[in-house]
Amino acid sequence: MVETAAQMAGASKNRYSAMSGLAPSGEVASLSSIEAQDVDRIPTGQEELDRVLGGGIVQGGVVLIGGDPGIGKSTLLLQALDGLQRTGQKTLYVTGEESGSQVALRARRLGLDNSQVSVLAETQLEKILATLESQQPNVAVIDSIQTVYSDQLTSAPGSVAQVRECAAHLTRMAKSSGVSVVLVGHVTKEGALAGPRVLEHMVDTVLYFEGETHSSFRLVRAIKNRFGAVNEIGVFAMTEKGLKGVSNPSAIFLSQHKEPVPGSCVLVTLEGTRPMLVEIQALLDAGGPSPRRLSVGLEHDRLAMLLAVLHRHAGVACMDQDVFVNAVGGVRISEPAADLAVLLAIQSSLRGKPLPTGFVAFGEVGLAGEVRPAPRGQERLKEAAKLGFSTALIPKANAPKKPIEGMQIHAIERIEEAIQWVRNQN
Ligand code: TYD
Ligand code: MG
Repeated sequence: MVETAAQMAGASKNRYSAMSGLAPSGEVASLSSIEAQDVDRIPTGQEELDRVLGGGIVQGGVVLIGGDPGIGKSTLLLQALDGLQRTGQKTLYVTGEESGSQVALRARRLGLDNSQVSVLAETQLEKILATLESQQPNVAVIDSIQTVYSDQLTSAPGSVAQVRECAAHLTRMAKSSGVSVVLVGHVTKEGALAGPRVLEHMVDTVLYFEGETHSSFRLVRAIKNRFGAVNEIGVFAMTEKGLKGVSNPSAIFLSQHKEPVPGSCVLVTLEGTRPMLVEIQALLDAGGPSPRRLSVGLEHDRLAMLLAVLHRHAGVACMDQDVFVNAVGGVRISEPAADLAVLLAIQSSLRGKPLPTGFVAFGEVGLAGEVRPAPRGQERLKEAAKLGFSTALIPKANAPKKPIEGMQIHAIERIEEAIQWVRNQN
């Protein structure tokens, strides 16, 4: 059961729902007669963050940033607010988790001396709304939405009802006043707090922080963006002085082997609009009667399917082998264009022979054994060439018309051709 308020200030008169008033009501009009306004964007100065946002924070837009506790949400937003403040924007950081002095301490640690960002330690929604009303900042951060509660509801702060109502009010406020609002939401495993997922439909942009706590790299991924491309990613490194954007992320996802090693294949993947090189590693080892298939950063079900294709169409059997597959650097790859690289890494581990030096691959593999093209093949090849790779095995349909300098391209149509090509190399 989810509690909702019967009537709250600012809600529509007849019937209240958390969603009412999120879009202004108007007359029926034909699409062509409605004036299309371009959105005003405010660049945050954090290039990688601007990239995922689609160029900057949109005026009156609401952004939700989700992620595990401790991953760096507060750090990134404090840095972004400081950057905005320094370009003359009025900013407000509402903290519900830390005291003002803790935030100040963090700012010192980040080297943000003389920061003019306004800080408000407050968790009560009505007071936050009143402050936004009176201060009229350009950008406000609510850290976190799960600590905000409204007096109008009896349920505990952090419950689904509270989180939803409070987010709806802040969203409505953003739309009506033009204040850009960034909501921080912790992803929780226990379920004591409502997760950010319950808010995704309400806000304009949803970003998620990814990354493993033991690695210093953090990805910010756009899951939904009404003002930009989805699946765009920003790459950051957590340093002593906060998060730093990484403009050439490919280097992170390649491990540094002096000599090529068996079971490793470099994939050119596309994250949003950005081609990236990621090393796929496979390890095959004699398994028991029911061998294990494990994948990290890649889809598990797809691995089982690919192994079946490899067996049926290329005659490479791994039935008696444990198969482990890993995408280096803690990156998560969901595009099917990774298939070919995964299979080549598996074959390479099985043979105990490395792939050629400077080798990259991409392409989707179908159940019939066909190798299907990947979107934007040309860009992928160019990125690989730029980073010094010299040989590529790609789907025939992706073969470029003009040669790419420094890159030898082998275009194939079927998985057995790929396997045979590799066998011919060594
Ligand atoms: P934080 O932004 O507080 O995470 P969240 O708001 O998502 O819960 O990040 C906290 C972590 O980041 C903490 O483990 C310490 C680390 N950190 C650094 O490594 N360098 C820094 O400069 C700062 C401020 C934090
Ligand atoms: Mg925090």
